[in-house]
Amino acid sequence: MHIPLVDLKRQYQGIKKEVLSEISLALDGMQLFLGKNVQAFESDFARYCGAQFAVGVGSGTEALHLALVACGIGPGDEVITVSHTFIATAEAIVLAGARPVFVDIDPETYNIDTSQIEKMINGKTRAILPVHLYGHTADMNPILELAEAYKLKVIEDACQAHGAEYKGRRAGSLGDAGCFSFYFTKNLGAYGEGGMITTSSPEIAKQCRMLRDHGQEAKYRHAFMGINGRLDEIQAAVLRVKLPHLDEWTESRRNIAQAYDAGLPSSIVKPQEMAWAKHVYHLYVVRTPNRDGLRAWLEEKGIGAGMHYPIPTHLQDAWRDYGGGDFSLPVTERMTGEILSLPMYPELTIEEAGYICECIRDFIEAKSGVAIER
Ligand SMILES: Cc1ncc(COP(=O)(O)O)c(C=O)c1O
Repeated sequence: MHIPLVDLKRQYQGIKKEVLSEISLALDGMQLFLGKNVQAFESDFARYCGAQFAVGVGSGTEALHLALVACGIGPGDEVITVSHTFIATAEAIVLAGARPVFVDIDPETYNIDTSQIEKMINGKTRAILPVHLYGHTADMNPILELAEAYKLKVIEDACQAHGAEYKGRRAGSLGDAGCFSFYFTKNLGAYGEGGMITTSSPEIAKQCRMLRDHGQEAKYRHAFMGINGRLDEIQAAVLRVKLPHLDEWTESRRNIAQAYDAGLPSSIVKPQEMAWAKHVYHLYVVRTPNRDGLRAWLEEKGIGAGMHYPIPTHLQDAWRDYGGGDFSLPVTERMTGEILSLPMYPELTIEEAGYICECIRDFIEAKSGVAIER
């Protein structure tokens, strides 16, 4: 059996006809500059998230960068975030001219440890940027309370959390702005690159619209310097086809997660879903001290497994020029050596998930010499 970490071909087969037809219509119309697909997808996605506005941009990185700038964050400012994330989170803060300040993560959700935020707030702090990693939201209420008390902005990195919920509200509707990636492997992925900023602030929405289009307020009238950060019309056509399927794909992911939860041996640490959250399992991440051994074992059996992420941001070479890693984030650093992402995509069958669990049980038995009850 060959089971990759992600298989996008299976999903494409089911929607191919509609995708090709919408791409063809977009090309026939030749309205490729912020055309009807971008506009319609922006309103559909805003509604989906429970936000008033959505602004389509070129990637999740751009969404984070422009949302920060639109919130008034720039040189001399500090933004509190996590190191245990994809590098783009910190990169966007640096692109905005500000300085990321890292706090450690909670070992159950792998998201920002909210009890450690307040001590990092100082006169330069302007925003908190929680990441809803793997598809599970951060614990937002303590973050929003601190933001209120210290007059900080809250920008959600929801790049892995399309449809995830916190106390019944969707990611992207919880902070001042929410930032999404439509990188092709995401729960809602384009067939190329794409991103979105959601907000219920008319001012932030207006700033983002102008920033993504060279600061234009009218044709060739530029109020300030922006970038070319527009969402591509063809990608918006693809995303419009996919969005109505997202909830059913999320349910499949949740069913697969349940199958893993039930089938994996007890010595493997499984992902938690907090009582206040709805997990959308962008990734199903387990933990074991013998992570590298398990990964090699699975690879031998034809099963793809990944690490998200093998090196935290504060230990990356790229971070050296921005202050270096002369501090330690013990939970982040411990998790980094133990986490393993198992195959997860809506079309993975329950039988395949069962086979993966079986292989993992074999591994535990082979290493411990003790049979697991089946
Ligand atoms: C947590 C997180 N933040 C930001 C990004 C950046 O998104 P993009 O790759 O679309 O620029 C990603 C995507 O990989 C991500 O997973």
